[in-house]
Amino acid sequence: MEKVVSLCKRRGFIFPGSEIYGGFAGTYDWGHFGLALKNNIKQSWWKKFVDSRRDMYGMDAAILMNPKVWEATGHVANFADPLDGKQFNTMLKTSVGAEVDEISVSYLRPETAQGMFVNFKNTVDAFHPKLPFGMAQIGKAFRNEIAPRDFLFRQREFEQMEIEYFVKGEEWEKYFEYWRGEMLEWMEEVGIDMNKVHELEVPDADRAHYSKRTIDFEFDYPFGRKELFGLAYRTDFDLKNHKLEYIDEANEQNRGEKTIPHVIEPTFGVDRAVLVLILSSYMEDEKDGEARSYLKLKPNIAPVICAVSPLLKNKPELVEYANTKVYAPLKAEFGRVAWDDNGNIGKRYRRQDEVGTPWCIVVDFDTLTDDTVTVRERDSGEQERIKVENLKKYLKERI
Ligand code: GAP
Repeated sequence: MEKVVSLCKRRGFIFPGSEIYGGFAGTYDWGHFGLALKNNIKQSWWKKFVDSRRDMYGMDAAILMNPKVWEATGHVANFADPLDGKQFNTMLKTSVGAEVDEISVSYLRPETAQGMFVNFKNTVDAFHPKLPFGMAQIGKAFRNEIAPRDFLFRQREFEQMEIEYFVKGEEWEKYFEYWRGEMLEWMEEVGIDMNKVHELEVPDADRAHYSKRTIDFEFDYPFGRKELFGLAYRTDFDLKNHKLEYIDEANEQNRGEKTIPHVIEPTFGVDRAVLVLILSSYMEDEKDGEARSYLKLKPNIAPVICAVSPLLKNKPELVEYANTKVYAPLKAEFGRVAWDDNGNIGKRYRRQDEVGTPWCIVVDFDTLTDDTVTVRERDSGEQERIKVENLKKYLKERI
């Protein structure tokens, strides 16, 4: 764990929040590469669960909500952890409005879910979806955790990717199974070490106040087996509490019939996804008689797809070629391309290995005469000569 935390800071992924002022517990700041990794994870999720489906509606609701929302959902009464024998509500309070006016207490949302439930009617009215259908949202959530700890695992400000999938009450079990499969499929696709993922059937006493059945997907972290993502059957709890219903307009037989749909909720913590992907891909081995560490990330998830280097940075003809004929066109095509001319080639490889860059491309003196470059693959360290004109195709085939 210490090695991973240190790599994240050294290589510009993740920094402790407000560090120059001594930090601020439960917060982290995202640097260029961590942000790229996080964005790739979110994109892969959105693509699978929203863009490639016909029954999913995206949302981006406000973080500040009318406090009546949190009364209706039972969060004001129940969203608490024990502290010194008393229950401590972990919603993060804030005051809204200028102090001269009446101050009203509000909360920074503790889950993105409610932003979707309160827009259930808007979504139905705007899109006329047939059951079953879902809403999906990626966004920040806040909890006044009593003991933030274990790096990104338990923070006070974090991000969630959530789906509220609305089904007919009698069909909940079928869709619960379906979403369990979808969740496992995405975890594998994105590159999580599935040997370390375990399902836990959460017992009655430990479930959230709204849930009739929950599976936690746990992960073997270096600090123990703990929750990664969750899948909950929320019944009609939320829609009922918000006094919302669904009127069936599509079905000939029961046109106009009112029902309260039931909800299956797959929920994913973005930060835990990042942490687990880094833990899953962190490798150590020996290359050229030297110990090295690297991140074995999939190319579509890695912060950088390839790094371009002139063999020597004090040879203008190499720099010019690398910059104009290799770096510029690859950067225009893929975006996530790095320029790296610092230190000797061995140092650059080590640095890119730690960032998880799958390919390093080097322009040398042969390039100037035959228009080929060296492409070095991260995991094997193997090198190939590739024609510059074929580089885009070479990379695209492998991403
Ligand atoms: N809407 C349901 C819900 O919020 P949860 O299990 O309380 O359920 C969902 O949270 C996910 O959010 C968790 O599985 C976890 O990945 C992430 N999460 C929860 N609390 C967190 C925290 N303090 N720091 C980082 N991630 C957290």
